[in-house]
Amino acid sequence: MKKIRNAVLMGAVLVIAIIFTAACSKKVDEIEKKQTSENTMDYNYLVLVNKEIKLPSDYEKNIELATGKDAHGDDIKVEKNALEAFKQLQKSLLEEDGIDIELDSVYRSVQDQQALWNEWANDPEKGIDYVLKFMAVPGYSEHHTGLAIDVCLVKDGKIIDDNDEMIAEKEIFDKVHAKLADYGFILRYPEGREKDTGYTYEPWHFRYVGDPSLAWVITNENLTLEQFIATLDDVKGIHSAARYQIVEALKKELKEAYKDKYTEVKFDVTKIYGDDEAKDLVDNYSDKDIVFEVEYQIKPTEGVDPNEFMIPNGELDSETGWVKKIKRVGSLRYNSKDGSYSLSNFGTGF
Ligand code: DAL
Ligand code: ZN
Repeated sequence: MKKIRNAVLMGAVLVIAIIFTAACSKKVDEIEKKQTSENTMDYNYLVLVNKEIKLPSDYEKNIELATGKDAHGDDIKVEKNALEAFKQLQKSLLEEDGIDIELDSVYRSVQDQQALWNEWANDPEKGIDYVLKFMAVPGYSEHHTGLAIDVCLVKDGKIIDDNDEMIAEKEIFDKVHAKLADYGFILRYPEGREKDTGYTYEPWHFRYVGDPSLAWVITNENLTLEQFIATLDDVKGIHSAARYQIVEALKKELKEAYKDKYTEVKFDVTKIYGDDEAKDLVDNYSDKDIVFEVEYQIKPTEGVDPNEFMIPNGELDSETGWVKKIKRVGSLRYNSKDGSYSLSNFGTGF
């Protein structure tokens, strides 16, 4: 198949169709329905559990848990890939920054959460106000997924696991947070985002999302998991993340290239190529690059000649005012320095 690297690049030949669903537009019941439907019950690293959305009913039986050690050396359970990613994060922080983070509270079944809820509510130093602030109602905790990790710090040989003391360790946590995305984690309850997440700042609670590039998108764009998921067509994991990245890159190029010359755009990412095919399409292909096929349509502003967009065979449908649907191949290139993606090809690849 023809290489697309040298195909006509953005700017001159670029026409992109985009419908970008605004963040937070999905209703809770729609998300719950999708998360519990059979076809999304395969492993879902993007499962959303929060104060309004409970754990999908049959989620726990699909989790593959592995055993790790907490700061006291006791066995604890975490989803197996999340545990491996955590160990790498932990090693990097220790070796490169001299920071010791340890697992504190990780997977909790609904029963575990209930027991903890009761214990803390009856603890005179904590009590119900504390519980309501920091704890999810049993059934509504992300810890049920096995993908949530609460860490504690070990400093000068002393374990720091008290919430207020950890919040006070800003300098250390800033360094820890800067490394999360490299290992596929996001800071799940960032400062000042209580309206989105339902929880106040929890510098210790990390969420594994299955892929560093996805974690980078969420982190770089300053999104909460709620906002990110609301932008996706579905809740299916990495392909959704790739689609999101493609759309973002195309949207940016479109704005730069055509400003006010169109009123509406539509796009549909119809295919994401696997490594075998993708390497034949892009020079210097790296397996982190995303090679895709997209169908797009554009509605020119009244009076703008559709030829301005230089779409091959791009006739205007006089009834609808849209230029007819066009299919193109393009690719996003992975930037290993910051985990970002940018559009590297967008041409007539086939
Ligand atoms: N601390 C978090 C919100 C939980 O209980 O799930
Ligand atoms: Zn937590």
